[in-house]
Amino acid sequence: MMKIAPSMLSSDFARMGEETRRMAESGADFIHLDVMDGNFVPNLTFGAPIIAAIRPYTDVFFDVHLMIREPQKYIRDFAKAGANGITFHLESEGDPAETIRLIREAGCLPAIALKPGTPAERVFPYLESLAMVLVMTVEPGFGGQKFQPAMMDKVRAVRARALSQGLELPVQIDGGVNLETIGEAARAGVSICVAGTGVFRAPDAAQAIRELKEAARAACGEVC
Ligand code: DX5
Ligand code: ZN
Repeated sequence: MMKIAPSMLSSDFARMGEETRRMAESGADFIHLDVMDGNFVPNLTFGAPIIAAIRPYTDVFFDVHLMIREPQKYIRDFAKAGANGITFHLESEGDPAETIRLIREAGCLPAIALKPGTPAERVFPYLESLAMVLVMTVEPGFGGQKFQPAMMDKVRAVRARALSQGLELPVQIDGGVNLETIGEAARAGVSICVAGTGVFRAPDAAQAIRELKEAARAACGEVC
């Protein structure tokens, strides 16, 4: 069954706690939190204090997507704030193996994100030590962009390599996921989809999440 991670980037920031609870009650499998520093990406969002403030609103897994330079500096802060998983970009500073080690040491599950221009092969050396790989299906920075279908080859490449190493490694995608695009993602082997506008712009979030899951299942049958 496809898992859905609503991105709080598209929520009403003035009511972020309630919005987090609403997503949890609507069937969100993860709460996706987009941290941007205005430097690694051309946009600024929020940091660890905001995540700590919304943490009491739900027990659902907090999936923190760091789009920041020098992620190693902030891992402890995000772990303390209540992150369950921490995803950092392979294109950011620091030795990825060390960043992964620091994330585990802080008690969180590590994941690596790849921008659209970064080839799948670059994440291969780290697959064994990761809990997830995030294949960006838009340039990171903003919600509401168009899905890049060419990224499905990257999803397949990561999945194939992981399987060849005997790893059942979940692949997540982020950007432009909606009822038209989720089927293709499911067929490529994606198991977790981030959805911002697709869930928050819908009149009924619970229905939107259900429909996304149904569309994924319809596209590839019970196997995925
Ligand atoms: C983009 C963010 C995404 C974004 C997705 O940099 O990482 O999580 O919020 O938004 P949609 O689903 O609207 O493309
Ligand atoms: Zn994201």
